Amino acid sequence: MKGIILAGGTGSRMMPLTKVTNKHLLPVYNKPMIYYPLHTLIDAGIKDILIISGKGHAGDFLELLGSGKEFGVKLSYAIQEEAGGIAQALGLAEDFADNESVCVILGDNIFEDKIKINDFKTGSMIFLKQVPDPHRFGVAELKGNKVIGVEEKPRTPKSNYAVTGLYVYDEQVFDIIKTLKPSGRGELEITDVNNAYLKKGKMKAFMLKGFWTDAGTFESLFRANDLIRQKTNK
Ligand code: G1P
Repeated sequence: MKGIILAGGTGSRMMPLTKVTNKHLLPVYNKPMIYYPLHTLIDAGIKDILIISGKGHAGDFLELLGSGKEFGVKLSYAIQEEAGGIAQALGLAEDFADNESVCVILGDNIFEDKIKINDFKTGSMIFLKQVPDPHRFGVAELKGNKVIGVEEKPRTPKSNYAVTGLYVYDEQVFDIIKTLKPSGRGELEITDVNNAYLKKGKMKAFMLKGFWTDAGTFESLFRANDLIRQKTNK
């Protein structure tokens, strides 16, 4: 399985912190933000990882992370020319994936758990976490412990289970992306990819045990710093 870190976007929610740098390079306690998703993939046993970023700061990622030798993995880089959504960025990884399955992580997502992906064969996997503010995320609709739908940033969430920014997909994901239409906010949504797998009965959902947070707003970045600080000094 190959790994993909999505680190594009303009960071518009975090101006002026992101005026001269990329959100994923901002500090989270003692490391740049992107180190955390990178380590989540490495700890899952992935050795071949593509980092997709926007124009402007791509060189900074290369400068920071290099070939991946320091981390014992192979890193490659790709550019998302315009911010067209998470699923659009993922579509750029088709050649890199080369018919293998992929583990995709958002560059601003911080997971405490080690993720187990060894048993994955086909379809898709998503990872859920209970949160106090589900309207900020993709939200799972549950029937018992079965996911029956996912809604992107719903005004009235059907549960408090957020769909976190870590996804495992088989090679069919790239065909699914080609069928997507832009959402109301003009983006190809990862939630639509997940619903396509769900419709085919090809999605497994797992509950995370440890902490999870995004770090893409002032509040969540602050929280991420605090969680990592506490964990580091335990
Ligand atoms: C994205 C996804 C959302 C997911 C979230 C996790 O939202 O669209 O489904 O729950 O990441 O961080 P964003 O915050 O990038 O708009």
